[in-house]
Amino acid sequence: MKGIILAAGKGTRLYPITLPICKPLLPVYDKPLIYYPLSVLMNAGIKDIMIITPPGDTKPFENLLSDGHKIGVNIRYKEQPVQRGIADAFILAEEFIGDDNCCLALGDNIFYGPGFRKKLRQAVELCKDGAAIFGYYVTDPRPFGVVEFSADGKAVSIEEKPKKPKSNYIVPGLYFYDNQVVSIAKNVKPSARGELEITSVNNAYLAQGALRVIPLESEFSWFDAGTADSLYEAAGQIKSAQRSGKMIGCLEEVALRNQWIGLDDLTIMAEEMSKTNYGHYLSTLVDDI
Ligand code: G1P
Repeated sequence: MKGIILAAGKGTRLYPITLPICKPLLPVYDKPLIYYPLSVLMNAGIKDIMIITPPGDTKPFENLLSDGHKIGVNIRYKEQPVQRGIADAFILAEEFIGDDNCCLALGDNIFYGPGFRKKLRQAVELCKDGAAIFGYYVTDPRPFGVVEFSADGKAVSIEEKPKKPKSNYIVPGLYFYDNQVVSIAKNVKPSARGELEITSVNNAYLAQGALRVIPLESEFSWFDAGTADSLYEAAGQIKSAQRSGKMIGCLEEVALRNQWIGLDDLTIMAEEMSKTNYGHYLSTLVDDI
């Protein structure tokens, strides 16, 4: 299974903050925003990851994550020359995906909640012959992809930013597909807003009866951190959720849990970051073992 993080947005809704720095590199409380989707892919057990970046902007991502070896993953980068919509990620990543299944995470989406790792593993299984997406209950779903689904988790309808939503479940930016996704994406026509919509990809799977929806319960948290307000809110929520003593989006912790790195590696990284809460947290992980 391959993983893609789409981090190529210009972040115009965050100007002037994102004039010199890409949105996924901005801090959300104590770590860069991209740590959250990256930890999600790692929690799904995905080791081979492509990060899609804006043109000319790969270097700062490399400065942060390099080729991923420190956290036991293989990261490569690909620039998106022109912003053409979410589904373009699969066209850009065609060679990287090869004959594999593929998971796409949007670079500004944050997820956390009980049992998430199990749900991710469930999505990996479900997409072996089709697609698996998530459904998250909100009071106003109109700005998002909206999915209606049956009690047994089969999608019934899916619409992008509907004026009259058929359900309150939005589709967050985390999608699991079988290998058909590349050919499906290549056949998507641009929408009225000129984008290759991910909802069109999902509609193609729906037409095959192969779009499954995993609900995220109300105790679950999801954010699309695309504006100053949502970034601020997300930072506050992460800070208070971490008061329990458990960090959200800690890459080294997931790598250790997956047995992709060892205690020695973790000790070195804890020392490198010993002046921050993040580093202290790594030390506590070392101590706990
Ligand atoms: C995109 C997708 C939408 C999804 C949302 C999640 O919306 O098109 O289906 O619900 O991401 O963040 P956009 O950010 O392009 O408005």
